[in-house]
Amino acid sequence: MWILAHRGASKQAPENTRKAFRLAMEQQATGIEFDTYQVENEIIVIHDRRLERTTNGHGQINNSSLEYLRSLDAGEGEQIPFLTDALGCLPADAMCNIEIKSLYDIPRWLQCLDASLQHIAMPRDNIIVSSFNHRWLKRIHQLEPDLKLGALTSSYPEEGVEFARKLNAYSVHVSLDVVDEELVRMAKAEGLQILVFTVDDPLDMQMLRDWGVDGIFTNVPDEARRVLL
Ligand code: G3P
Ligand code: CA
Repeated sequence: MWILAHRGASKQAPENTRKAFRLAMEQQATGIEFDTYQVENEIIVIHDRRLERTTNGHGQINNSSLEYLRSLDAGEGEQIPFLTDALGCLPADAMCNIEIKSLYDIPRWLQCLDASLQHIAMPRDNIIVSSFNHRWLKRIHQLEPDLKLGALTSSYPEEGVEFARKLNAYSVHVSLDVVDEELVRMAKAEGLQILVFTVDDPLDMQMLRDWGVDGIFTNVPDEARRVLL
């Protein structure tokens, strides 16, 4: 069962920072998940639309220059990572789930992904691109049919499974609040991997393992390893 560190090892280090990603790898997570925005032809790693919660900056990501974003403290002296920085924290055999929170130009977004991958040893096959915005995933699939895609879904998981099946996606990513054993069976019957977010309680980890879930997103990868492996 995959253990994907949600925003890195984000219980012990500032979320979506290099520190959190490196710690997750030290704790032997299978890989990491992080959130991204497209700004001036770069892919920036941060969760919220606004800067206040996780940095010492102010305003919206989409109205910020790269220079300003680079100047901010994202916690414990860490900079907001760009995609290349985040991927650079991972060994070649780690999995990486890039969640798209916002983008404005899909061809450029894909070029940026390619450019980042050229700097690192990680194979393209270890990347899963996910989003709650299924229109973007559909367009990405048209442009790059070989890229692994994960359909994120929170309220209507059956629709997520149906969309993922039609898209020929790699996986469906379902909230812990709505997953049940039948949904796991349904996803697997369609040949999809099913990954569940966000799972920090050992009892939930064990339950999902018993249901045959393929992986979890967790803020506590060290705890997940103790429970699951
Ligand atoms: O990708 C799973 C999960 O991260 C989606 O929710 O709000 O944590 O990005 P959120
Ligand atoms: Ca996320």
